[in-house]
Amino acid sequence: MKLFIDTANVEEIRKAHELGVIAGVTTNPSLIAKEGRDFFETVKEISAIVGDLPISAEVISLDADEMVEQGKKLASLGPGIVIKVPMTADGLKATKRFTEMGIKTNVTLIFSSPQALLAARAGATYVSPFIGRLDDINMIGMNLIEEIVQIFRMHDIKSEIISASVRHSTHVIEAAKLGADIATVPYKVIESMMKHPLTDAGIQRFLADWEGAGQKTF
Ligand code: E4P
Repeated sequence: MKLFIDTANVEEIRKAHELGVIAGVTTNPSLIAKEGRDFFETVKEISAIVGDLPISAEVISLDADEMVEQGKKLASLGPGIVIKVPMTADGLKATKRFTEMGIKTNVTLIFSSPQALLAARAGATYVSPFIGRLDDINMIGMNLIEEIVQIFRMHDIKSEIISASVRHSTHVIEAAKLGADIATVPYKVIESMMKHPLTDAGIQRFLADWEGAGQKTF
């Protein structure tokens, strides 16, 4: 399973990219708003950092024609731009048109398997089921990942499944075990995935033993 970073913060993207662990970036209007910067400048800067890795940038209109216009403008900002469209009838129409134009899409705000199937059939490159937001309303988000993985594998559907709205590293590992193609994760989840108290304790022990043995320093 690949990891994308879910943020519009360029410093977080730079740090994650330097770690060598991310295969793409997802943003959304809330994440862009949080940064308080110009949308287009932000997307261009992200593109300069990650090159041709996929970067999902979301349209704002709810009308298919306008989504296509907005998407074409976004697609011109860099080689890896993926147009994120909401899971609506107009979003599906726009997805079909982007597919015909050879522009990649990420259908977002997916909360059910029927929605995922429709998005895939419209030609979505990626579908984004939101795990955490389902958990938030006392549903089991991971059940949705399991069902979509089963359907897509059974019917040889090529759209990649992005586990989105990821809150913690357990979500990441559960999605990986279920066969999701990608998890898009906030930077703080990447940080938490690196940590283990036994790693820290092990490093301290190795250093203390090294010094205790009187070895020369490097
Ligand atoms: C996915 O592409 C979305 O940007 C994101 O995962 C939403 O997560 P949230 O529920 O934490 O806002």
